[in-house]
Amino acid sequence: MSKPTTLVTGAAGFIGSHLSKALLKEGHQVLALDDLSGGFKENLPQGVSWIQGSVNDHLLVDSVFKDFRIDYVYHAAAYAAEGLSHFIRRHNYQNNLIGSVNLINASIRCSVKCFVFFSSIAVYGRGQVPLDEETIPRPEDPYGISKLSVELDLAAAHDLFGLPYVIFRPHNVYGEFQNLNDQFRNVVGIFSRQLLLGEPLTIFGDGSQRRAFTYVQDILPACIACLKNTKSHGQVFNLGSDMPVTVLQLANLLIQISGISSTVNHLPERHEIIDAFSSHKKAEAFFGSFPKTDFEDGIEKTWAWAKNQKISIRSLPFEVEISQNLPPSWAKLLKP
Ligand SMILES: NC(=O)c1ccc[n+]([C@@H]2O[C@H](COP(=O)([O-])OP(=O)(O)OC[C@H]3O[C@@H](n4cnc5c(N)ncnc54)[C@H](O)[C@@H]3O)[C@@H](O)[C@H]2O)c1
Repeated sequence: MSKPTTLVTGAAGFIGSHLSKALLKEGHQVLALDDLSGGFKENLPQGVSWIQGSVNDHLLVDSVFKDFRIDYVYHAAAYAAEGLSHFIRRHNYQNNLIGSVNLINASIRCSVKCFVFFSSIAVYGRGQVPLDEETIPRPEDPYGISKLSVELDLAAAHDLFGLPYVIFRPHNVYGEFQNLNDQFRNVVGIFSRQLLLGEPLTIFGDGSQRRAFTYVQDILPACIACLKNTKSHGQVFNLGSDMPVTVLQLANLLIQISGISSTVNHLPERHEIIDAFSSHKKAEAFFGSFPKTDFEDGIEKTWAWAKNQKISIRSLPFEVEISQNLPPSWAKLLKP
């Protein structure tokens, strides 16, 4: 039997690179589409075919689908800076919504067998925790709005054109190959970088925000299983750890594990949701129980990798569109 050809967008990024490796292991031929705006060429696993380019370029997307007979699409490309998305609204919608629509159009035309979309629990906004899939989504930031819009567009594409799809809403995923150089997203990456640079760890507010940090390997089995599990097609799943911890706990754990004497610098609160974690009963009902790496073990593994990384902060590959109400610490970073 010939190998399925699977397009992974964002494959040079954190989740996309782990996923690509897992797909190769499953016998897929993996095509990686990534513009390296947030990813790294070195993250691309050996064996993938890489096309450098943006999902925003619909002519490129169409040509990829013309040149290859694509069976499956995993769409993980995005700029996932939830808090910053208020200030880069156009970039957010262009990259995360219109870029996704380019892929959905091509997938409909080419009768893709399943389109797997990495959404986010940011679609829920503030709600009763643990958030479950029955919760009515009310996203509060442009990032969450773009993710929910793509979810709705996929449902419409299924209804009219029969495009099979699965939506995963992961949360606070961390692990090896996470970008440590982005100053605006992923608190595990930000804290790791600050430790490596000998800087205090910065927390907005008192650090009581609760998140369920999820080790990246734990989300992969469901992401792979959904292709064959056709009952999961047309469904939305929360995906991640069940154990909420505070951001302050995370900071203290990283300081302890790294053995670096550091302090925590509390910054003024910013506009953010205090409690964001979800239930995973639905994913378990469809895919069985998935691995649940102990939080300390996962952070230990991540630090063992992070401590050997070189830090080199890149400037953002786009402009900040709105400067009003930017947290002062961000305004400082974004000064030309
Ligand atoms: N990491 C998390 O905790 C988390 C949580 C929920 C959802 N997600 C979603 O999972 C997906 C992957 O997230 P990640 O943490 O691996 O992010 P990441 O930044 O490490 O990876 C994203 C990749 O997409 C690429 N990319 C961005 N815009 C692109 C474009 N227009 N065209 C082509 N490539 C582009 C980047 O270069 C990068 O390699 C994203 O869709 C994100 O919204 C992540």
